[in-house]
Amino acid sequence: MGIEELSVRNGRAVSDRWADSVVVRPRTPERHVTVHQRLVLAFAVSILTLVVVTAVAVTLAVSFEKCGGSSSENVVPPGTGSNQSRDRSGEQKGGDVQPWRRLRLPTALRPRHYDLQLSVYMHNFTFSGEASIELECLNATKFIVLHADGLHVEKVAVYSDSKKPGAMRIHRHFRYPHNQVHVIALHREMKPLRTYRINMTFQAQIQNQLLGFFHTSYALHGERRYAAVTQFSPTHARKAFPCFDEPVYKATFSVTLRHDASYQSVSNMPIESSGLDEDGWLTNRFSRTPRMSTYYVSWAVCDFSSRETMTHSGVMVSLTHSSVKLHYSTDFYSTLHL
Ligand SMILES: *[C@@H]1O[C@H](CO)[C@@H](O)[C@H](O)[C@H]1NC(C)=O
Ligand SMILES: *[C@@H]1O[C@H](CO)[C@@H](O)[C@H](O)[C@H]1NC(C)=O
Ligand SMILES: *[C@@H]1O[C@H](CO)[C@@H](O)[C@H](O)[C@H]1NC(C)=O
Ligand SMILES: *[C@@H]1O[C@H](CO)[C@@H](O)[C@H](O)[C@H]1NC(C)=O
Repeated sequence: MGIEELSVRNGRAVSDRWADSVVVRPRTPERHVTVHQRLVLAFAVSILTLVVVTAVAVTLAVSFEKCGGSSSENVVPPGTGSNQSRDRSGEQKGGDVQPWRRLRLPTALRPRHYDLQLSVYMHNFTFSGEASIELECLNATKFIVLHADGLHVEKVAVYSDSKKPGAMRIHRHFRYPHNQVHVIALHREMKPLRTYRINMTFQAQIQNQLLGFFHTSYALHGERRYAAVTQFSPTHARKAFPCFDEPVYKATFSVTLRHDASYQSVSNMPIESSGLDEDGWLTNRFSRTPRMSTYYVSWAVCDFSSRETMTHSGVMVSLTHSSVKLHYSTDFYSTLHL
């Protein structure tokens, strides 16, 4: 009893908590109210804090988004893009050191002839190719810069065609996607008035947009059929093969298409030779084109195994019938000499 009284007097004086726990709590209902009020107050404050924090976060997010949106528009790799003054300084200072940073191809090399061999896989809409480009060197350079967009370039080799033929040592080769180019850096300079040959192998998808080398489908007698066709004008040849994809670089082209024998193929020129492998693959070699720009090159791989469509009017005309749906370019007709 003495201890209780002591604790009541001194305990309360010393510490409320001590007092509460021992004696006071059951006797003072108003203290409960106080505790409740504190709880409610704390709850209210925390809710208020939550609301304020959320509001601040939302405001920040919105302003951050605004900042991010505008800054991402300005993100431009060095030496290219919208900042003209930087572009020009890039051309002056870095132009010769890093010619791939320019928007236009360097003028030191001029393509003369392209040998293109493409294997077209219609079952998975991919193709693999070998491009062999004969070049003329106008100005000494260590760099070959040519267009390639979305192509997975695998092997690259450069040969000197003149007096001392042989492979040129390649320092490195790499993509510079910002300008849609592939760059081959050589150990030694290529010399003016000599010719060179680049051999490249590459793979890519047959796109499903109506650019480059793309696939499309159409219905024939209620059956879905597929065709793969090209639309290179104005700057989409680079999506199908590595090339100097500016109109000024005119060259001749020899196209060879390899595909499943259930498909036919056409290109700018008539078929020069055609061969059927044991594995059911057809190789069509088309004759060399006249000298022309890359965007005039065209080919198509189509399924015309159904003979009825051809009997009335022949292969070309039946192809033309389908082509209304295939979005062939006008270049295709003009170069087909139909
Ligand atoms: C371009 O870049 C330079 C410096 O690199 C800068 O001074 C100039 O303001 C920029 N111009 C534009 C239009 O962004
Ligand atoms: C597509 O098919 C060809 C031939 O079967 C194959 O070599 C190639 O790897 C395939 N590509 C993909 C992306 O599966
Ligand atoms: C480069 O490719 C072409 C065409 O595919 C081929 O005829 C030629 O032999 C190749 N060059 C070398 C040196 O392998
Ligand atoms: C490049 O070569 C041509 C002739 O082939 C010449 O007229 C021109 O001055 C050369 N340019 C440079 C930068 O050397």
